[in-house]
Amino acid sequence: MALWPLLLLTLGLWVLVRKWALLRLGTSLPGPWAFPLLGNAQMVGKLKPEFIFLVFTEMRDRFGATYRLWLGPQLWVFLHSAEETRQALHDPTLRKAETFLQLEPLIGNGLLISHGAHWTRQRRLLTPAFQPQLLRSFAPDIAGHVERLVTRLAATKGAFLEVTDPLFACLLDAIVDTSMGANLNTQSTDHSPIINAFHLSSKLLFKRMINPLLASDWIFHRTKLWRDLDEQLQVIHTQMESVIGQRAKELEEMEEAPGGAHNLLDTLLLARFEGQKKLSRKEIRDEVNTFVFAGVDTTTASMSFVLYALAKYPETQSRLRKELQELPLDGLSDPDSLSELPYLEALIKEVLRLYTIVPTTGRQTTRSTEIGGRTYCAGVTLWINMYGLAHDKLYYPDPYAFKPERWLEDGGSAPPAFSYIPFSGGPHVCIGRRYSLLLMKLLTARLVMEFDLELRPEQAPLKLQAQMVLKAQEGIHVSFLKR
Ligand code: HEM
Repeated sequence: MALWPLLLLTLGLWVLVRKWALLRLGTSLPGPWAFPLLGNAQMVGKLKPEFIFLVFTEMRDRFGATYRLWLGPQLWVFLHSAEETRQALHDPTLRKAETFLQLEPLIGNGLLISHGAHWTRQRRLLTPAFQPQLLRSFAPDIAGHVERLVTRLAATKGAFLEVTDPLFACLLDAIVDTSMGANLNTQSTDHSPIINAFHLSSKLLFKRMINPLLASDWIFHRTKLWRDLDEQLQVIHTQMESVIGQRAKELEEMEEAPGGAHNLLDTLLLARFEGQKKLSRKEIRDEVNTFVFAGVDTTTASMSFVLYALAKYPETQSRLRKELQELPLDGLSDPDSLSELPYLEALIKEVLRLYTIVPTTGRQTTRSTEIGGRTYCAGVTLWINMYGLAHDKLYYPDPYAFKPERWLEDGGSAPPAFSYIPFSGGPHVCIGRRYSLLLMKLLTARLVMEFDLELRPEQAPLKLQAQMVLKAQEGIHVSFLKR
């Protein structure tokens, strides 16, 4: 009997010793008052998505550039300076934040959340599937999907339309076609089950990620949220397995493997490692889902803000049109011609700054490391506030104003490296960044030459909401009037 108090005391001491470095670090950092044991979990759990990143940015004003939150025993530290961000993104001892591992049911151990030797192998394998020359060869197929979108928009005859859904369908079709060689044809159906499944699963996964009470798998797997998610995941997995299976069969029936550069799916199916080992179907599905998950929603959100900006600022719209009118006849679908256009480039850069599509990203310390002159012990989650950096008046004068000109040659001094990182930076920099820029340029150029864009008068001002990616809370309503 007398052993119990001793055991409890020993356990308490053991916890204290193990967490001592974390406790010491947490108490040395400024941050809001934290409840014993719960910390700030209650406050974070209650935050509405539309306020999350604004609250984090506002706390920066209150507590300084580096502050902390406690989520129960977990310590979250928010980094804000460009230099700290650069150091964190290059630190090889950091992993993706544990919160992101909750995406596992959808993307398994795909590139976005894997680490170590597996990540290195996969990143090396997949990088050639995004090389500029191969991407350029995608242009005619992408242009076909853009034409289908143009037809859909023309049919609205200038009525106001929420742009996210048609953009999502166009980009999903274009990305799956060019990176996997399959035609999903979601643009020709009004209610596509696969689109619905991606939307819903993304929403449900995010709901879990921002609720510290659902962090444990044991608890989560007993909730209705999990059952709803599982239902949608079955739709996605069945569809993607069919795409993979069909292409695997085609490749098997070929006498020799196709030559030249391979798209994403062929790269995965043809990969051979030591002893001719192939990737398993599950590994291939994880990567395929990763690319759809990481690529479609982000590029859709970016494009919807491009259309918003064009509709809201008619002078930007006409300046871009003027630049595009100087292109040769087939220039609108020629990636090389489009890459030469400074105003188109500046417009997209400014949209990605002002509407930072991925507002934050997170990393986990795995051992003691130094960032920005401060030592962090193992077990700390470091949050990088890309939105905060892109709206810091230290780096961008008049940071909340839309000014594509700031990116032109005579637009003033360039902001410091790592203050503008819409695609992140360091070894985990977005592998699809050139791909998404190509998609955005082809879409923007074609739409602005085909239509006059106008914003619904009651649309402005936008209320931004951080879900998986930044979105307009009430959507973006634009009219497309044929020119
Ligand atoms: C405007 C569109 C896009 C934006 C804003 C964007 C943003 C990002 C960001 C911020 C990261 C890094 C996350 C981190 O450091 O934790 C990332 C990683 C990634 N992105 Fe993108 N992305 C876009 C489009 C795409 C596209 C089109 C694809 C592929 C089809 C893609 C695939 C990926 C993958 C696989 C990673 C993980 C890379 C790694 O960790 O090695 N993204 N993206």
